[in-house]
Amino acid sequence: ADTTVYRASTTAPVNIAVVKYWGKRDPKLNLPTNSSLSVTLSQADLRTLTTASCAAAFGGDSLTLNGELSDISGARTQACFRELRARRAALEAADPSLPKLSAMGLKLVSENNFPTAAGLASSAAGFAALVQAIANLYELPDTPAQLSIVARQGSGSACRSLFGGYVAWRMGDKEDGSDSMADLVAPASHWPNMRALILVVSAAKKGVSSTSGMQQTVATSGLFQQRIANIVPANMATMEEAIQRRDFAKFAEVTMRESNSFHACCADTYPPIFYMNDISKAAIRAVESINAKAGKTIAAYTFDAGPNCVVYYLDEEAPTVLGAFSGVLGGVTGWKEGSAGVKSSVRLEE
Ligand code: PMV
Repeated sequence: ADTTVYRASTTAPVNIAVVKYWGKRDPKLNLPTNSSLSVTLSQADLRTLTTASCAAAFGGDSLTLNGELSDISGARTQACFRELRARRAALEAADPSLPKLSAMGLKLVSENNFPTAAGLASSAAGFAALVQAIANLYELPDTPAQLSIVARQGSGSACRSLFGGYVAWRMGDKEDGSDSMADLVAPASHWPNMRALILVVSAAKKGVSSTSGMQQTVATSGLFQQRIANIVPANMATMEEAIQRRDFAKFAEVTMRESNSFHACCADTYPPIFYMNDISKAAIRAVESINAKAGKTIAAYTFDAGPNCVVYYLDEEAPTVLGAFSGVLGGVTGWKEGSAGVKSSVRLEE
């Protein structure tokens, strides 16, 4: 009998969207109502590390997240396991000399180097790492784009964490989701002075989950219909061009308009959903005042399904941007400058 324990590890980064994914046209397959685009943050600051192992002696599947056993019975996690096992089983059928890993229990151990419940897109890094770790364990020949189709079924935004740099998630139009996948717009090296400042306004778990927030928005917001028909397609095109040209002012304008449009749709649902709080709004005002003082756009804010703020800026403007934040939002404890890399992170806790 095969007594080997097979094992593989990987890390996956967090991504923060500058054109937002908000709305599912198929909730089961996580097919979106619109394409989206994100910037992948440095793994030196935010990442999930996952080890996948399997052995004939392992009973069932399990996932330990930050030292605690996690529920894996959900349809999304099960879909990822099923898809990856099917791919491995196909390899085993084609080559009978391969060990039958697809028939063994899977043990996953996952560790975030940032607070899981802080609303910092932990599900994106989490599912991307889970899928990549199992793909490594199974020695699958799939490309990152092909694996992004699997990760998408775990959490939509996770499909964008299979790549570094500037990443688009093309919504696709097939019913089976086989063309709804991530695509590299530009590597991080294309625009190496891009930075992201993370303002952790609250580390509390978000009030309305992205799944139910999206469901309510699709069902009740009229503004949302306008967003997916006209606003997002235009913003995707402008954003891709801004990235290709390294045009920060354009990049920043679309980023801020996108955040505003997404939160306006949330406010337009019935009943309304509010993710930003008063501190979030103070951060918006701070970015506006930074840009007004500079006489040009040097900082851009964006918010996801929670109150935390991400500010994009270029490294050469770091003294101005970081300095302004310490002034405007000063007196708040918890400042900590992160390591250099694709980003520099500063945390600000309430
Ligand atoms: O992947 P989910 O289901 O957690 O949804 C993410 C939604 C936003 O973070 C608000 C936007 C995005 O594109 O990441």
